[in-house]
Amino acid sequence: MIRKYTFGTPLPTDAVVRQLPAEAGALPYFTVSRGEGGSLSFSISLHPEEVLFGLGQAVRGINKRGHLFESWNSDVFNHTETQSSLYGSHNFLLFFRPDRLFGIFLDDPGRVTWDLGWTKHDEAVITSLSGNLDLYLIEEDSPVSAARAFRQLTGRSYIPPRWAFGYIQSRWGYASEEEVRNVAGEHRKRHIPLDAVCLDIDYMEDFRNFTWKPDAFPDLARFSREMKEDHIRLVPIIDAGIKVEEGYAPYDSGKALDCFCKKEDGSDFVAAVWPGRCCFPDFLREDVRRWFGDLYIPLLDAGIEGFWNDMNEPALFYSDEGVADAFSRVEALRGGSVGYEAAWGLKDSFESLANSLADYRRFYHLVEGKPVRHDLVHNLYGAGMTRAAADAFRRRCPGRRVLLFSRSSFIGAHRNAGIWQGDNFSWWSHLKMALQMLPGLNLCGFLYTGCDLGGFGCNVTEDLLERFLQLGVFTPLMRNHSALHTREQEIYRFSIWETMRDTVSVRYALLPFLYSEFMKAALRDEMLFRPLAFDYPGDPRAAGVQDQLMLGEGCMIAPVYEQNADGRYIYLPEDMLMIRFRSAEDYDLVPLSKGDHQISLSLGEFPLFVKENHAVLLCPGGESSELLDDTRFTVLGRITREGVYELYRDDGVSADPDPAVCITPVPLALQESFSTIQI
Ligand code: GLC
Repeated sequence: MIRKYTFGTPLPTDAVVRQLPAEAGALPYFTVSRGEGGSLSFSISLHPEEVLFGLGQAVRGINKRGHLFESWNSDVFNHTETQSSLYGSHNFLLFFRPDRLFGIFLDDPGRVTWDLGWTKHDEAVITSLSGNLDLYLIEEDSPVSAARAFRQLTGRSYIPPRWAFGYIQSRWGYASEEEVRNVAGEHRKRHIPLDAVCLDIDYMEDFRNFTWKPDAFPDLARFSREMKEDHIRLVPIIDAGIKVEEGYAPYDSGKALDCFCKKEDGSDFVAAVWPGRCCFPDFLREDVRRWFGDLYIPLLDAGIEGFWNDMNEPALFYSDEGVADAFSRVEALRGGSVGYEAAWGLKDSFESLANSLADYRRFYHLVEGKPVRHDLVHNLYGAGMTRAAADAFRRRCPGRRVLLFSRSSFIGAHRNAGIWQGDNFSWWSHLKMALQMLPGLNLCGFLYTGCDLGGFGCNVTEDLLERFLQLGVFTPLMRNHSALHTREQEIYRFSIWETMRDTVSVRYALLPFLYSEFMKAALRDEMLFRPLAFDYPGDPRAAGVQDQLMLGEGCMIAPVYEQNADGRYIYLPEDMLMIRFRSAEDYDLVPLSKGDHQISLSLGEFPLFVKENHAVLLCPGGESSELLDDTRFTVLGRITREGVYELYRDDGVSADPDPAVCITPVPLALQESFSTIQI
């Protein structure tokens, strides 16, 4: 059951697809109190065993209890465990304890704080700074049905084309056709599977959106065609800001149509991002979304079938006003004797130039014709950009899927795009964090997701990249991405590249199966990755597991995330078959009983666990998703009761596939662990 409670005058967010009448009665479970400046707090005491799931993109464990989170979309380069915000705001939280279950969604586009046992271990206090919001209360019998109810409220998850489940190579720095061709060629030469290469800002002319360098990428249509002949797609980046430059067509047309966010005095707000001084499209306006979306069309027409949207929190490096303020603070200190506090202040004056609240308060959007200050709707910006792109794709390629993943997001954006987890580091702790973020993201509707495999910042080590890839085998977005000036991170750069290639080959053997699990989850409003407690709500030990996830209908993953570990500890809530992969053809099948196990997993080995009477399907390998044979399978599983596996297959591109037509029942005959089947 879903009930809606309205507080103050909420701004429209596009988060929900079902319109519900607001309840007249008081909100149960919570004490509601007004605070300073109209803020509104919802307090609730927490049971000692209460577990909190959700909040989507956030640091720390699967259970969110014990930390202070903030919904405030942030361009953060440092995902330490003290971070309160990342790039997206996903205000859905499930309160789970043995005798009670409910979820709340705060449909509030401004700043929200989540003190989840941080101030007091036995109390949660959730505060909306503006006090204007719709709060949805979801009460269901199980976490799985609560997740489904939330999805039905907010709409079906985005479905990318099937090729987007292939391996994607990316790096900030690929600056010419030649370089991209070389990267692709190295993969093909060594038989490392590959479906796409991302183009970062270096493909653009002076980092201006919707341009490409004429000398380095002379003919994008031809290049895209050439790559596609080799079954490789190009996926260019698009940033949010539009460079201020007369004669640059997107700036001129945006200016002519008055598309940019304004300051109080009516002039365009300007701040710097990669191309220098930029204006920011007012994505909250339908006409602006249409204008911006149309700018993608020449790229679509050049054969591009996928994009990533970036810097859309929006990231602001600095504004003229911010720089002037910093200088005046510095000037005020000139000549005097500067103590340590003032000296630190000097440093902070410049360090705090980026993404400053002062800048976010300097500009306005038009919402239903009225100016609204940006900070009140801050968390909608990336979602608006994504919506602009997705609507344009629907206009230009009706009935076809286009790959789109964004950095910033809000609930509702999950209908239009996937997201990646942002600028992580080549740290072992970030491998674990990537795993722990998956169920929260899925609960909030973001199914097409994954992290920068290998880590974006810092220099990766080869064992870390291999372990990252082992997680990436299972994440829908399997992309290796790294920052400029870091150690080159393509698989073929490393001495153990054959081990890494074999790991990626497992992804390809599993691809039809993983795609099938993804599609069923999307079409049935389910999660692909779930905390163990979702499947075993009655098992008190399951609720405490922070580093294993249920995957699809019948599997569980438990990656190694520590350096030099030759295995790991796992908890099995029931008997399972462990597949210990070394490659698509080389694996052990080990039946394990419910309980605790220490599993040995040397560097090239990683496990997938299968519940009894469930199966995993492996297809004959291929180096591109388009070359896989999904009619012949090796069926792995312990089947003690005959049944069927519903294999979902479709053409991989049609936007609205008919699930009834796309399911092939695969009979599961009695077997200890292994059989082959032709369908
Ligand atoms: C941002 C993105 C990153 C990208 C870089 C350059 O940091 O998060 O993925 O490589 O910008 O465009």
